[in-house]
Amino acid sequence: VIKKTEPTYKITHEPSVTSRQLKEELSGKDMIPEVRKDMMDWAQKKTLEINHLKQMAKYRREFLGNISHELKTPIFNIQGYILTLLEGGLEDTNINKLYLQRAEKSINRMISIVNDMESISRLESGIFKLEFERFNIVKLVAEVFDNIEISAKKGNITLSLKQKASEKEIWVRADKKRIFEVLTNLITNSINYGKKRGKTVVSFGSSGKNVIIRVTDNGAGIPEKDLPRIFERFYRVDRSRSRNLGGTGLGLAIVKHIIEAHKSTIRVKSKLKKGSEFSFTLKKA
Ligand SMILES: Nc1ncnc2c1ncn2[C@@H]1O[C@H](COP(=O)(O)OP(=O)(O)OP(=O)(O)O)[C@@H](O)[C@H]1O
Ligand SMILES: [Mg+2]
Repeated sequence: VIKKTEPTYKITHEPSVTSRQLKEELSGKDMIPEVRKDMMDWAQKKTLEINHLKQMAKYRREFLGNISHELKTPIFNIQGYILTLLEGGLEDTNINKLYLQRAEKSINRMISIVNDMESISRLESGIFKLEFERFNIVKLVAEVFDNIEISAKKGNITLSLKQKASEKEIWVRADKKRIFEVLTNLITNSINYGKKRGKTVVSFGSSGKNVIIRVTDNGAGIPEKDLPRIFERFYRVDRSRSRNLGGTGLGLAIVKHIIEAHKSTIRVKSKLKKGSEFSFTLKKA
């Protein structure tokens, strides 16, 4: 725009410019419509940019609001326990150890919130890099099972791998650590929102150059109206229930980021009181 309007500007503001120069500068050009179009394009681009920035600012505000809200619960709990101990509870053998243990539990809760927060802000800033390698996804699932077996036992959930004999090894190319995180989140959810003596099954499928990985449970299920939102950060279907389980509502947001960074998508099918199935694909290797 500036380049095009410059001659006109010069002409109006510099007395030394003669009318002959003016004619030469402007001859053969129909500037007004062109400038007008450039201005419109520019304005449209700026509007988009401004809207994007406004959206980001809104996200940031919400994010901060959510963080302080989530941290408040454990902080106030810890404060409560410590005050009770200070006000004489320390001598009371019925509660002194118990309250310290509870305070410690709240501190662990804070640590896990802060860790999740760190991962999600790294994922959302886009600065993280995936480290691709070839690995056996069947083996990785077994490792995740080993890792969370204790919490599964507490919830009375059986974890199992559904595989044919030919599926002892399924090789994929992906970021192994991140996929470990994805599987851990999905399987932990299936335990937390599962029913007593429930079942979680991980199964595999094939679709062209991709391996399909499914995590299926027969637990609580998710109401249809909540399905589109469960991947949003801090979104929980049943806040009080989820908070009892120590949920922040960041797990699936992290899962979605990681899967999308792999240029894949995470899908969910769910029926209330019947169960849920989360699935994604990875490139075969
Ligand atoms: N397998 C499942 N069965 C039923 N509901 C589920 C399942 N997985 C997720 N949900 C619902 O989706 C919500 C969001 O899940 P997400 O993993 O993001 O958060 P969270 O488990 O509450 O907390 P976090 O994973 O951060 O500890 C959960 O609170 C729960 O209501
Ligand atoms: Mg979760």
